[in-house]
Amino acid sequence: MTTAAAPGTTPEPEDNPLTDGLERLPVHPTALVIFGATGDLARRKLLPALYNLAHEGALPERFGLVGNARSEMTDEAFREQAIESVREFSRRPADEQVLAKLFANVRYVPGSFDEDAVYEGIAGALDGFDEDAGLALNRCFYLSTAPAFFPVIVDALGRRELARRADAEVRVIIEKPFGRSLEEARELNARVLSVFAEEQVFRIDHYLGKETVQNVLALRFANTLFEPLWNRNYIDHVQITASEDIGIGSRAGYYDSAGALRDLVQNHMLQLLSLLCMEPPVAFEADPVRDEKVKVLRAIRTPHAVEIPQLAMRGQYAHGIVAGEEVPGYLEEAGVPQDSTTETYAALRLEVHNWRWAGVPMYLRTGKRLARKVTEIAVTLKPVPHVAFQSAGISTGVRPNVLVLTVQPNEGVSLSIGAKIPGTRMAIRTVNMEFLYGTAFLSESPEAYERLIIDAMRGDATLFTRNDEVEEQWRICDPILNAWEAMPGPLAQYPAGSQGPADAGALLLGDATWRAI
Ligand code: BG6
Repeated sequence: MTTAAAPGTTPEPEDNPLTDGLERLPVHPTALVIFGATGDLARRKLLPALYNLAHEGALPERFGLVGNARSEMTDEAFREQAIESVREFSRRPADEQVLAKLFANVRYVPGSFDEDAVYEGIAGALDGFDEDAGLALNRCFYLSTAPAFFPVIVDALGRRELARRADAEVRVIIEKPFGRSLEEARELNARVLSVFAEEQVFRIDHYLGKETVQNVLALRFANTLFEPLWNRNYIDHVQITASEDIGIGSRAGYYDSAGALRDLVQNHMLQLLSLLCMEPPVAFEADPVRDEKVKVLRAIRTPHAVEIPQLAMRGQYAHGIVAGEEVPGYLEEAGVPQDSTTETYAALRLEVHNWRWAGVPMYLRTGKRLARKVTEIAVTLKPVPHVAFQSAGISTGVRPNVLVLTVQPNEGVSLSIGAKIPGTRMAIRTVNMEFLYGTAFLSESPEAYERLIIDAMRGDATLFTRNDEVEEQWRICDPILNAWEAMPGPLAQYPAGSQGPADAGALLLGDATWRAI
């Protein structure tokens, strides 16, 4: 029986006929090992995601968790820490019963990633789970560590014969960044693939786990309306924005050696572009989807050093005001060298050189400490060929249609259309047709990590990046990074809380302007 939720509240999945949440498909009994289990990502995202999966009944009946990190700690202390993380960061209030059950048998193995004893301890814990269950559990190793340790851990798993088992599956989940350049990514892929088969490897790009990102494919391929227009004949340009109002927080160590292009463009934004531009896959399955995405990336030419100033620009946030509060500039952040030339803003103009997209500018921009957090894909259609109406008085005139897919916040889709203003005159004004996730489905979307963890446990790699995609993404970004590294600083500054560098508009062709953030 379904019951309506009280007004203003979000119904639980079991009450809501419009959501089956992270559907309880059978998942083979699994043990998950988190390397870096006391780190920021584990505390903020992974442990709360496990909790929410447990709450939805989506975890396998038999589930074992092993944490590893450098700090000395008992199983009991790690359990307490995990519970605290869930209490602090879970999207749902913590239910004590679910928490107690989830973490009852948690194991913690202290030690650094190059110590043999760590792998012995992990193997012992995993064997213990098998014995308790009376069967061989699948094993998932989640590498949530600094990237320098990815090869160390992968090698050790290989050496200790933990990478394969005869009677169950073994999978490895690798966080970003996957290398810092094409060369590093190739080396890392070679290392990983010398130990694991590609089907065992799950390279995380958490944007692919976002409901609204997957909705790009639903919108395109579950509707007749859009696909006939989805090409160079009707689309004028595309703007993909991933702006954040936050600064770098306590991540100076990582961020200063990465920068905006490596942090967000090389992965999340190029993935968004691939989904937007790919041909229809024959099936929504790992290889058909990834085959089509990689073709889009291959169709983007490697930028030449001489054209980079016209195709790419960067900036760095200066002191300013965000949400009414004064915030320091990037160079004043703790841990950032005062002469750092790391970009906190990056914007690009790319082109997908294929039959469908030739000539359509694809603009990408991202930055920290901008006016607000918004991730969206805005597709601007070509103007109508002839305007028969006067643009006068309250009329805004006839404007090109813009289809906006908002990934976050206010997840949804909106289409701007020209409509007649009521009255005697034929005056036109732009209005919006809107679909909002929260309103249409009466539910809060699961967090990206919930979906991705369960997919990896099920062995479904559709929402993970394949080695060839990662390498193509670096091929596109490398020349820009090299050109920027060769240019002397200091970088153009933009006030925190603003729209970004004043001259970012120079990248845009024709009449295009950046959408307001
Ligand atoms: C991460 C980046 O991959 O994505 C962060 O390393 C960034 O710098 C984050 O803040 C943004 O993710 P989301 O899900 O908040 O848009």
